[in-house]
Amino acid sequence: MGHGSNLTAAVLVSALAACWFISLLWAHQAPLVRSDCAKRNATEAHGRLGGDAAETSSEETRRPRDGACAMAPESRFDCARDRLLSQRGCEDRGCCYAPLPHSAGPPWCFYPTLYPGYRMGPLTPTARGQEATLTRATPSHLPREMSTVHLEVTGGTAGCLHLTFKDPSSQRYEVKLPAAVPQGEDDAQDALYSTEYQSDPFGFIVRRRSNGRVIMNTTVAPLLFADQYLQLSTALASSLVSGLGEHYTSLLLDLNWTSLTLWNRNMAPHADANLYGSHPFYMVQEEDGLAHGVFLLNSNAIEVMLQPTPALTWVAIGGILDLYVFLGPDPQSVIRQYLQVIGYPMMPPYWSLGFHLCRWGYTTTLTTRHVAQRMHNATFPLDVQWNDLDYANKDRVFTFDPWRFGDLPEMVEDFHERGMKYILILDPGISSSSPPGTYSPFDEGLKRDVFIKNATGHILIGKVWPGQTAFPDFTNPETRRWWEDCIRDFHSKVPVDGLWIDMNEPASFVQGSAEGCPASDLENPPYTPKVVGGQLSSGTLCMSAQQKLSTHYDLHNMYGLTEAYATHSALMNIRGQRPFVLSRSSFPGIGRFSGVWTGDVGSDWEQLRYSIPAVLQFGLFGVPLVGADVCGFGGNTTEELCVRWMQLGAFYPFMRNHNDKPNAPQEPYVFGQKAQAAMRSALNLRYSLLPFLYTLFHHAHTSAATVARPLFMEFPTDDNCQAVDRQFLWGSSLLISPVLEQGAVELAAYLPSGTWYSLHNVSQTPMHPFYSKGRYSLLPAPLDTINVHVREGHIIPQQVGPALTTVASRRKPFFLTVALSAGGWAWGDLFWDDGDKLHTFETGHYCYVTFTAGQVGKRRVTFPLGMNWALDGLVLGGLQVFGVPSPPRYVLANGDKVKDFTYRSDTKVSSVGLALPMSEVFSVQWAL
Ligand SMILES: *[C@@H]1O[C@H](CO)[C@@H](O)[C@H](O)[C@H]1NC(C)=O
Ligand SMILES: *[C@@H]1O[C@H](CO)[C@@H](O)[C@H](O)[C@H]1NC(C)=O
Ligand SMILES: *[C@@H]1O[C@H](CO)[C@@H](O)[C@H](O)[C@H]1NC(C)=O
Ligand SMILES: *[C@@H]1O[C@H](CO)[C@@H](O)[C@H](O)[C@H]1NC(C)=O
Ligand SMILES: *[C@@H]1O[C@H](CO)[C@@H](O)[C@H](O)[C@H]1NC(C)=O
Ligand SMILES: *[C@@H]1O[C@H](CO)[C@@H](O)[C@H](O)[C@H]1NC(C)=O
Repeated sequence: MGHGSNLTAAVLVSALAACWFISLLWAHQAPLVRSDCAKRNATEAHGRLGGDAAETSSEETRRPRDGACAMAPESRFDCARDRLLSQRGCEDRGCCYAPLPHSAGPPWCFYPTLYPGYRMGPLTPTARGQEATLTRATPSHLPREMSTVHLEVTGGTAGCLHLTFKDPSSQRYEVKLPAAVPQGEDDAQDALYSTEYQSDPFGFIVRRRSNGRVIMNTTVAPLLFADQYLQLSTALASSLVSGLGEHYTSLLLDLNWTSLTLWNRNMAPHADANLYGSHPFYMVQEEDGLAHGVFLLNSNAIEVMLQPTPALTWVAIGGILDLYVFLGPDPQSVIRQYLQVIGYPMMPPYWSLGFHLCRWGYTTTLTTRHVAQRMHNATFPLDVQWNDLDYANKDRVFTFDPWRFGDLPEMVEDFHERGMKYILILDPGISSSSPPGTYSPFDEGLKRDVFIKNATGHILIGKVWPGQTAFPDFTNPETRRWWEDCIRDFHSKVPVDGLWIDMNEPASFVQGSAEGCPASDLENPPYTPKVVGGQLSSGTLCMSAQQKLSTHYDLHNMYGLTEAYATHSALMNIRGQRPFVLSRSSFPGIGRFSGVWTGDVGSDWEQLRYSIPAVLQFGLFGVPLVGADVCGFGGNTTEELCVRWMQLGAFYPFMRNHNDKPNAPQEPYVFGQKAQAAMRSALNLRYSLLPFLYTLFHHAHTSAATVARPLFMEFPTDDNCQAVDRQFLWGSSLLISPVLEQGAVELAAYLPSGTWYSLHNVSQTPMHPFYSKGRYSLLPAPLDTINVHVREGHIIPQQVGPALTTVASRRKPFFLTVALSAGGWAWGDLFWDDGDKLHTFETGHYCYVTFTAGQVGKRRVTFPLGMNWALDGLVLGGLQVFGVPSPPRYVLANGDKVKDFTYRSDTKVSSVGLALPMSEVFSVQWAL
């Protein structure tokens, strides 16, 4: 215990508030991508990756040297990824052939040690770093291989190493992301890494300088660089690897000879499938609390092979190898360094952190109004009512059905009057089959030449909900202007508050196009990663389709990102307020413009459980505003599942209950009274914590801190936290331990070392503090309870009192939960602004308040007054202090005696009722 024994006579809780008027103007969003692409020669014909009928090279140069094949099966790197090779075919590639009892697991055909590859020329200094030329004398089996590769190495900052491998002779497609956050002026002397090169065959090693640990070792297998096949393997520093989304996985990836494909696809989450987003970034937890990350900036289809040595192989089928290594040294620094490259997340509007309700199947405004009214009548908070595609006239976006949704504009106004917001779905597919003159988004789009073209320069026609559709090319600036005009026109009739961009992989119900796709190396590359449907164009557009910047082959994975960027800036320009966009498809950098939800999750317990690693991984990818469809989208939910999902969902950074058309309803009010009470309590708990959640988003926006955070990021030296993904943290101070199993009324939860206080609604009886040495404990979790613990040393700002929207909750009295550390101190903060205005932080229109609690003797402490106009009219209604060792003799608020205080000696909780203006510095003091 050792708790409180060294406490002196008094504890002081005080707030030091200051409003900042510093103008930190964010660099205006630069164009997302820059054209740098080569027009591919789609008619050129090539063989496959080569096979049994080997090419020209002689047996002499091909045969592995003696002993080069002698290696443990775990150390093998696959030499026949593209096809099953016979011994002859394998040896023709200069590789080793050694069958094993099983076909799964280690490959039978693998690279020998020192497989002839690129030879590195001298490393010479440049203005930005160093460069070298890699040349190969012996071709591999790959068609259109580069005989020369240009390597450039730049030490971006002390913690970030940047290596690019390009073809010096042609302009290949390259992803360009704007440098979103100015990089520090680090001296290379301070670099956290050192690099070494093996010149023949080429390979490199990155070490952590402080301890010599090998972070990357690419000498384990050859570098390959051909037009449509780029490969780089590396040994990994540990088996604790996370990232490489979007997949249905646990937080730690399975390295037992698995592969993950990054190719955006409309696909309900399930194992071994490429899903909606692509994030070629992984983070490795090293054994001693340190961590590093690696990012391959490449938007082509990517396959990543994982093997248990541990090691990993990147295969990208286009572009260049643009590789960043982030040295941390701690996990949170790795994420900050990554987001310095791809951009810090946007600041969401306050209301978007409230509860959202949606369903495919609210078929009229009458139904939609009825749903919102029933939520209201049953006293469930609801900030945002949504409509799926039901609203649209013949499923065409930018229209609404005149009969079923005739009063849509009035409905939205009515919601606004009640302090609610309204969002509807917007698919990118633009109906192309309406009679000319009847559907202006298409007519205008044609005129302004905004659509993706097929290989022969005609508009590519696919099929989505409205039937035949054309697809806007958001890499074209004119398309973004047209998109904004469409949204402005629609918004002038239906004043939506945000937009939900779905189907933006983009999804199409015909493969490639209504005309199919031409035969070419883009449609059928020499090597196709394992994708759902077998072909790159499965469920989407032809690879040979032409966009402004390049082919769809190169740009496919960025479709959702480019649409999110266009939609975000359109909403910003039209509404003049903070935009809200929710996207299904994603790519690095999307967090600057949009939140993400995890798509069509099923209503079952397994999907509930895997929603946690999904949400946590998006946090690593710089998309903190994320959640899964609460209660599940596909299939019928059950009352128990939906209660547990509402409880967990109350701690998704983005919380929306969404349901599919054929299912039984799952709005909170359809369930029994007990279930409703449990859901209401979870929602009220979320609403009371919104000031805290909003402050976490502020830190995400300004310093890349994660919001929903894996335990290992906060407790990196605690081995027990490495794999935890059934629990998570909000920031560094709230631990959430949900029930994820049917029928369970208790759960084994891991509580890291320290004192943890159960957070209850203020009305509930506080529980005894939980002193943990870092172990699993059985916690009671009846159906009405989700376990939430406050970590010692933290102060959580809340607003309490019944509120059905954030408009109302933002006016409620503040309340501080103070969890004293063993030494009797605690710290917390609050970011507060208008909640809706643009760039409040960047222009200084906000307040930032810090709260500290500590021992000060009986001395009275005063602080200068702040200028907290943003907090005008708001009061501090009270506080509860956990960990007070004995009853206070008296309590002073700003020096005056407070009558309203209580103390429970069993739980060591003291509660104080107050009415202090939040806009002024205050101090609360008590003597023990
Ligand atoms: C494309 O390849 C074909 C066949 O090899 C060739 O005839 C044509 O000139 C090439 N076009 C370009 C633009 O390189
Ligand atoms: C890199 O990998 C090669 C091949 O496995 C190995 O021989 C070498 O020792 C490794 N180098 C380092 C520094 O770990
Ligand atoms: C790896 O997978 C194989 C079969 O796929 C299985 O037999 C083996 O037990 C697995 N190894 C581990 C460590 O999980
Ligand atoms: C909501 O409550 C009011 C007042 O009790 C009642 O008139 C109305 O029918 C209820 N609406 C719905 C949709 O349940
Ligand atoms: C492009 O579209 C036009 C018009 O639909 C069609 O005639 C042509 O065959 C298409 N070209 C390709 C390569 O699919
Ligand atoms: C789901 O619920 C609906 C409505 O209650 C019912 O019609 C349907 O049969 C259920 N589906 C399944 C698969 O149980």
